[in-house]
Amino acid sequence: QSLYVGVDLGGTTIKIGLCNHLGELLRTYEGPTETELGTDRILDNIAAYVHSLVPPGTPEWEQVHGIGIGIAGFLDIPGGIIKFSANLPFRQVPVRHIMEEKLGKPVKINNDANVAALGEVWGGAGRGVHNCVCYTLGTGVGGGIIVNGRLIEGFNGMAGELGHISIVPDLEAIQCGCGQMGCLETVSSATGIIRMANDAVARGDRTSLSLVDKIMAKDVFDAAKAGDEVSQRIVARAAFYLGKSMAALAVIVNPQRFIIGGGVSKAGEYLFEQIRETFEKFSTDSAKEGVDIVPAELGNNAGVVGAAGLFLYA
Ligand code: BGC
Ligand code: NA
Ligand code: ZN
Repeated sequence: QSLYVGVDLGGTTIKIGLCNHLGELLRTYEGPTETELGTDRILDNIAAYVHSLVPPGTPEWEQVHGIGIGIAGFLDIPGGIIKFSANLPFRQVPVRHIMEEKLGKPVKINNDANVAALGEVWGGAGRGVHNCVCYTLGTGVGGGIIVNGRLIEGFNGMAGELGHISIVPDLEAIQCGCGQMGCLETVSSATGIIRMANDAVARGDRTSLSLVDKIMAKDVFDAAKAGDEVSQRIVARAAFYLGKSMAALAVIVNPQRFIIGGGVSKAGEYLFEQIRETFEKFSTDSAKEGVDIVPAELGNNAGVVGAAGLFLYA
Protein backbone atom coordinates (compact mmCIF):
# COMPACT_ATOMS: atom_id res chain seq x y z
CA GLN A 1 0.00 0.00 0.00
CA SER A 2 0.98 3.65 -0.44
CA LEU A 3 1.82 5.72 2.63
CA TYR A 4 2.13 9.48 3.12
CA VAL A 5 3.78 11.49 5.87
CA GLY A 6 2.34 14.80 7.06
CA VAL A 7 4.31 17.32 9.12
CA ASP A 8 2.78 20.10 11.20
CA LEU A 9 5.61 22.55 11.80
CA GLY A 10 4.65 24.82 14.68
CA GLY A 11 6.62 27.37 16.68
CA THR A 12 6.96 25.05 19.70
CA THR A 13 6.11 21.54 18.49
CA ILE A 14 6.67 19.51 15.35
CA LYS A 15 4.00 16.87 14.86
CA ILE A 16 4.39 14.08 12.31
CA GLY A 17 1.64 11.75 11.10
CA LEU A 18 1.64 8.65 8.91
CA CYS A 19 -1.42 8.26 6.68
CA ASN A 20 -2.55 5.55 4.28
CA HIS A 21 -3.94 6.16 0.80
CA LEU A 22 -7.42 6.79 2.28
CA GLY A 23 -6.09 9.66 4.38
CA GLU A 24 -6.51 7.61 7.57
CA LEU A 25 -4.04 8.53 10.31
CA LEU A 26 -2.09 5.40 11.34
CA ARG A 27 0.17 6.89 14.02
CA THR A 28 1.89 10.10 15.08
CA TYR A 29 5.17 11.29 16.59
CA GLU A 30 5.88 14.61 18.27
CA GLY A 31 8.99 16.49 19.31
CA PRO A 32 10.10 20.03 20.17
CA THR A 33 10.78 22.47 17.32
CA GLU A 34 13.74 24.02 19.19
CA THR A 35 13.10 27.30 17.37
CA GLU A 36 15.77 29.06 19.43
CA LEU A 37 18.47 26.79 17.91
CA GLY A 38 17.90 28.16 14.40
CA THR A 39 16.64 27.02 11.03
CA ASP A 40 19.21 24.27 10.36
CA ARG A 41 18.38 22.61 13.65
CA ILE A 42 14.64 22.84 12.98
CA LEU A 43 15.00 21.14 9.60
CA ASP A 44 17.27 18.45 11.12
CA ASN A 45 14.60 17.88 13.77
CA ILE A 46 11.91 17.39 11.13
CA ALA A 47 14.07 14.77 9.39
CA ALA A 48 14.89 13.04 12.70
CA TYR A 49 11.22 12.91 13.77
CA VAL A 50 10.11 11.60 10.36
CA HIS A 51 12.76 8.88 10.67
CA SER A 52 11.61 8.05 14.21
CA LEU A 53 8.06 7.59 12.96
CA VAL A 54 9.08 5.52 9.93
CA PRO A 55 12.67 4.23 10.17
CA PRO A 56 14.58 4.34 6.86
CA GLY A 57 15.43 0.93 5.45
CA THR A 58 12.17 -0.65 6.62
CA PRO A 59 9.61 -1.93 4.08
CA GLU A 60 7.25 0.75 5.40
CA TRP A 61 9.70 3.53 4.50
CA GLU A 62 9.82 2.18 0.96
CA GLN A 63 6.03 2.63 0.80
CA VAL A 64 6.21 6.33 1.71
CA HIS A 65 5.47 8.34 -1.44
CA GLY A 66 6.14 11.76 -0.07
CA ILE A 67 6.27 14.12 2.87
CA GLY A 68 3.93 17.12 3.08
CA ILE A 69 4.74 19.97 5.46
CA GLY A 70 2.29 22.58 6.77
CA ILE A 71 3.99 25.79 7.91
CA ALA A 72 2.70 28.92 9.63
CA GLY A 73 3.97 31.75 7.49
CA PHE A 74 4.15 33.36 4.08
CA LEU A 75 5.35 30.87 1.47
CA ASP A 76 6.31 30.70 -2.16
CA ILE A 77 4.30 27.49 -2.55
CA PRO A 78 5.33 26.40 -6.06
CA GLY A 79 8.97 27.29 -5.28
CA GLY A 80 8.88 25.49 -1.91
CA ILE A 81 10.32 28.52 -0.08
CA ILE A 82 9.42 29.95 3.34
CA LYS A 83 9.55 33.71 2.75
CA PHE A 84 8.56 34.97 6.21
CA SER A 85 7.18 33.57 9.42
CA ALA A 86 6.29 35.47 12.56
CA ASN A 87 6.91 32.50 14.88
CA LEU A 88 9.73 30.69 13.05
CA PRO A 89 13.14 32.15 12.11
CA PHE A 90 12.97 31.24 8.39
CA ARG A 91 13.55 34.10 5.91
CA GLN A 92 13.72 33.10 2.22
CA VAL A 93 14.71 29.49 2.97
CA PRO A 94 14.19 26.87 0.20
CA VAL A 95 12.74 24.33 2.62
CA ARG A 96 11.33 21.92 0.07
CA HIS A 97 14.67 21.48 -1.67
CA ILE A 98 16.60 21.06 1.60
CA MET A 99 14.14 18.51 2.97
CA GLU A 100 14.13 16.50 -0.27
CA GLU A 101 17.93 16.20 0.06
CA LYS A 102 17.67 15.15 3.70
CA LEU A 103 14.85 12.66 3.22
CA GLY A 104 15.44 11.34 -0.29
CA LYS A 105 11.70 11.55 -1.03
CA PRO A 106 9.43 14.11 -2.71
CA VAL A 107 8.44 16.95 -0.38
CA LYS A 108 5.62 19.51 -0.69
CA ILE A 109 5.11 22.52 1.53
CA ASN A 110 1.99 24.61 2.09
CA ASN A 111 0.60 27.05 4.62
CA ASP A 112 -0.56 25.45 7.91
CA ALA A 113 -4.07 26.88 7.71
CA ASN A 114 -4.44 26.01 4.01
CA VAL A 115 -3.54 22.45 4.87
CA ALA A 116 -5.97 22.38 7.82
CA ALA A 117 -8.69 23.67 5.47
CA LEU A 118 -7.98 20.85 3.02
CA GLY A 119 -8.10 18.37 5.90
CA GLU A 120 -11.53 19.68 6.99
CA VAL A 121 -12.89 19.50 3.45
CA TRP A 122 -11.58 15.97 2.86
CA GLY A 123 -12.62 14.45 6.16
CA GLY A 124 -14.04 17.01 8.59
CA ALA A 125 -16.64 19.76 8.86
CA GLY A 126 -16.40 20.57 5.15
CA ARG A 127 -17.09 17.12 3.70
CA GLY A 128 -19.07 17.54 0.49
CA VAL A 129 -18.87 21.35 0.64
CA HIS A 130 -17.13 22.68 -2.48
CA ASN A 131 -17.02 26.33 -1.46
CA CYS A 132 -15.83 27.06 2.02
CA VAL A 133 -13.62 29.36 4.02
CA CYS A 134 -11.75 28.05 7.09
CA TYR A 135 -10.27 30.06 9.92
CA THR A 136 -7.81 28.73 12.50
CA LEU A 137 -7.73 30.78 15.66
CA GLY A 138 -4.57 30.06 17.63
CA THR A 139 -1.33 31.94 18.27
CA GLY A 140 -2.14 33.64 14.95
CA VAL A 141 -5.24 33.75 12.80
CA GLY A 142 -4.87 31.50 9.78
CA GLY A 143 -7.14 30.96 6.82
CA GLY A 144 -7.78 28.63 3.93
CA ILE A 145 -10.13 29.32 1.02
CA ILE A 146 -11.62 26.53 -1.08
CA VAL A 147 -13.49 27.54 -4.24
CA ASN A 148 -15.15 24.94 -6.44
CA GLY A 149 -13.25 22.27 -4.51
CA ARG A 150 -9.83 23.82 -5.06
CA LEU A 151 -7.55 25.57 -2.60
CA ILE A 152 -6.85 29.15 -3.65
CA GLU A 153 -3.13 30.01 -3.37
CA GLY A 154 -3.09 33.24 -5.36
CA PHE A 155 -0.41 35.14 -7.25
CA ASN A 156 2.15 35.13 -4.40
CA GLY A 157 0.90 32.31 -2.20
CA MET A 158 -0.81 34.90 0.01
CA ALA A 159 -4.42 33.95 -0.73
CA GLY A 160 -6.22 32.95 2.45
CA GLU A 161 -3.92 34.86 4.82
CA LEU A 162 -7.09 35.96 6.62
CA GLY A 163 -5.27 36.96 9.80
CA HIS A 164 -3.71 39.85 7.91
CA ILE A 165 -6.87 41.50 6.67
CA SER A 166 -6.38 45.05 7.97
CA ILE A 167 -9.77 45.61 9.59
CA VAL A 168 -9.47 47.44 12.93
CA PRO A 169 -10.08 51.21 12.50
CA ASP A 170 -6.95 53.39 12.62
CA LEU A 171 -7.55 54.95 16.02
CA GLU A 172 -7.76 51.54 17.71
CA ALA A 173 -5.25 49.70 15.53
CA ILE A 174 -2.03 48.23 16.82
CA GLN A 175 0.86 46.77 14.83
CA CYS A 176 0.76 43.11 13.82
CA GLY A 177 3.70 40.67 13.69
CA CYS A 178 3.59 41.06 9.88
CA GLY A 179 4.39 44.78 10.17
CA GLN A 180 0.95 46.02 9.07
CA MET A 181 -1.51 47.89 11.34
CA GLY A 182 -4.90 46.66 12.55
CA CYS A 183 -4.77 43.07 11.26
CA LEU A 184 -7.58 40.69 12.28
CA GLU A 185 -4.94 38.63 14.08
CA THR A 186 -4.26 41.49 16.51
CA VAL A 187 -7.77 41.13 18.00
CA SER A 188 -9.04 37.62 17.19
CA SER A 189 -6.05 35.35 17.90
CA ALA A 190 -5.29 33.87 21.32
CA THR A 191 -2.33 36.24 21.44
CA GLY A 192 -4.58 39.24 20.74
CA ILE A 193 -7.14 38.18 23.35
CA ILE A 194 -4.40 37.71 25.96
CA ARG A 195 -2.90 41.10 25.08
CA MET A 196 -6.27 42.87 25.47
CA ALA A 197 -6.73 41.12 28.82
CA ASN A 198 -3.29 42.10 30.11
CA ASP A 199 -3.87 45.69 28.96
CA ALA A 200 -7.14 45.83 30.89
CA VAL A 201 -5.50 44.52 34.05
CA ALA A 202 -2.58 46.95 33.64
CA ARG A 203 -5.05 49.85 33.23
CA GLY A 204 -6.64 48.81 36.52
CA ASP A 205 -10.04 47.91 35.01
CA ARG A 206 -12.30 46.06 37.45
CA THR A 207 -12.07 42.46 36.29
CA SER A 208 -11.73 38.99 37.77
CA LEU A 209 -8.79 38.53 35.38
CA SER A 210 -6.60 40.54 37.75
CA LEU A 211 -6.64 37.46 40.02
CA VAL A 212 -5.27 35.19 37.28
CA ASP A 213 -1.53 34.54 37.39
CA LYS A 214 -0.65 34.08 33.71
CA ILE A 215 -3.74 34.86 31.62
CA MET A 216 -4.58 32.42 28.81
CA ALA A 217 -7.33 32.90 26.20
CA LYS A 218 -9.40 30.25 27.97
CA ASP A 219 -9.34 32.31 31.20
CA VAL A 220 -10.86 35.24 29.30
CA PHE A 221 -13.66 33.08 27.86
CA ASP A 222 -14.35 31.46 31.24
CA ALA A 223 -14.51 34.86 32.94
CA ALA A 224 -16.76 36.24 30.18
CA LYS A 225 -19.15 33.29 30.51
CA ALA A 226 -19.18 33.83 34.28
CA GLY A 227 -20.27 37.45 33.81
CA ASP A 228 -17.03 39.46 33.91
CA GLU A 229 -17.81 42.54 31.81
CA VAL A 230 -14.25 43.35 30.81
CA SER A 231 -13.80 39.81 29.49
CA GLN A 232 -17.14 39.99 27.72
CA ARG A 233 -16.01 43.12 25.87
CA ILE A 234 -12.75 41.44 24.81
CA VAL A 235 -14.58 38.38 23.44
CA ALA A 236 -17.16 40.61 21.75
CA ARG A 237 -14.38 42.51 20.00
CA ALA A 238 -12.64 39.31 18.82
CA ALA A 239 -15.98 37.97 17.52
CA PHE A 240 -17.04 41.26 15.92
CA TYR A 241 -14.02 41.54 13.64
CA LEU A 242 -14.22 37.86 12.72
CA GLY A 243 -17.88 38.27 11.76
CA LYS A 244 -17.13 41.42 9.80
CA SER A 245 -14.32 39.75 7.87
CA MET A 246 -16.72 36.92 7.01
CA ALA A 247 -19.32 39.36 5.71
CA ALA A 248 -16.64 40.73 3.37
CA LEU A 249 -15.60 37.24 2.27
CA ALA A 250 -19.23 36.36 1.65
CA VAL A 251 -19.36 38.89 -1.18
CA ILE A 252 -15.87 38.02 -2.46
CA VAL A 253 -15.95 34.22 -2.71
CA ASN A 254 -19.52 33.46 -1.57
CA PRO A 255 -18.70 30.30 0.43
CA GLN A 256 -21.43 27.90 1.51
CA ARG A 257 -19.77 27.32 4.86
CA PHE A 258 -17.33 29.01 7.23
CA ILE A 259 -15.38 26.55 9.38
CA ILE A 260 -13.62 27.78 12.49
CA GLY A 261 -10.91 25.72 14.22
CA GLY A 262 -7.87 26.23 16.42
CA GLY A 263 -7.61 26.45 20.20
CA VAL A 264 -9.76 29.59 20.52
CA SER A 265 -12.71 27.90 18.76
CA LYS A 266 -13.00 25.58 21.78
CA ALA A 267 -14.84 28.47 23.45
CA GLY A 268 -17.80 26.96 21.60
CA GLU A 269 -21.31 28.34 21.02
CA TYR A 270 -20.67 31.33 23.28
CA LEU A 271 -18.18 32.59 20.68
CA PHE A 272 -19.95 31.24 17.59
CA GLU A 273 -23.24 32.97 18.41
CA GLN A 274 -21.53 36.35 18.54
CA ILE A 275 -19.67 35.73 15.28
CA ARG A 276 -22.92 34.70 13.55
CA GLU A 277 -24.70 37.79 14.86
CA THR A 278 -22.13 40.14 13.33
CA PHE A 279 -21.98 38.16 10.10
CA GLU A 280 -25.78 38.37 9.75
CA LYS A 281 -25.77 42.05 10.57
CA PHE A 282 -23.22 43.04 7.91
CA SER A 283 -24.13 40.58 5.12
CA THR A 284 -26.48 41.33 2.33
CA ASP A 285 -29.34 38.81 2.02
CA SER A 286 -28.21 36.94 -1.10
CA ALA A 287 -24.65 36.53 0.22
CA LYS A 288 -25.74 34.95 3.51
CA GLU A 289 -28.59 32.82 2.21
CA GLY A 290 -27.97 29.16 3.10
CA VAL A 291 -24.54 29.96 4.57
CA ASP A 292 -23.52 28.48 7.91
CA ILE A 293 -20.70 29.02 10.41
CA VAL A 294 -19.58 25.80 12.12
CA PRO A 295 -16.73 24.48 14.29
CA ALA A 296 -13.90 22.44 12.75
CA GLU A 297 -13.96 18.70 13.41
CA LEU A 298 -10.42 17.39 13.04
CA GLY A 299 -8.93 19.25 16.00
CA ASN A 300 -5.19 18.83 16.52
CA ASN A 301 -4.82 16.31 13.71
CA ALA A 302 -6.05 18.61 10.90
CA GLY A 303 -2.47 19.75 10.26
CA VAL A 304 -0.79 16.37 9.82
CA VAL A 305 -3.68 14.81 7.90
CA GLY A 306 -3.99 17.82 5.60
CA ALA A 307 -0.21 17.90 5.01
CA ALA A 308 -0.12 14.20 4.12
CA GLY A 309 -3.09 14.91 1.86
CA LEU A 310 -0.99 17.31 -0.24
CA PHE A 311 0.18 14.16 -2.02
CA LEU A 312 -3.18 12.41 -2.02
CA TYR A 313 -5.43 15.10 -3.35
CA ALA A 314 -3.53 18.25 -4.38
C1 BGC B 1 0.42 33.43 9.69
C2 BGC B 1 -0.26 32.42 8.82
C3 BGC B 1 -0.69 31.22 9.63
C4 BGC B 1 -1.47 31.65 10.86
C5 BGC B 1 -1.87 30.49 11.73
C6 BGC B 1 -0.45 33.75 10.88
O1 BGC B 1 0.22 34.65 11.69
O2 BGC B 1 0.65 34.60 8.92
O3 BGC B 1 0.60 32.04 7.76
O4 BGC B 1 -1.47 30.39 8.81
O5 BGC B 1 -0.74 32.58 11.61
O6 BGC B 1 -0.75 29.77 12.17
NA1 NA C 1 -3.61 30.32 4.58
ZN1 ZN D 1 -0.69 41.12 10.01
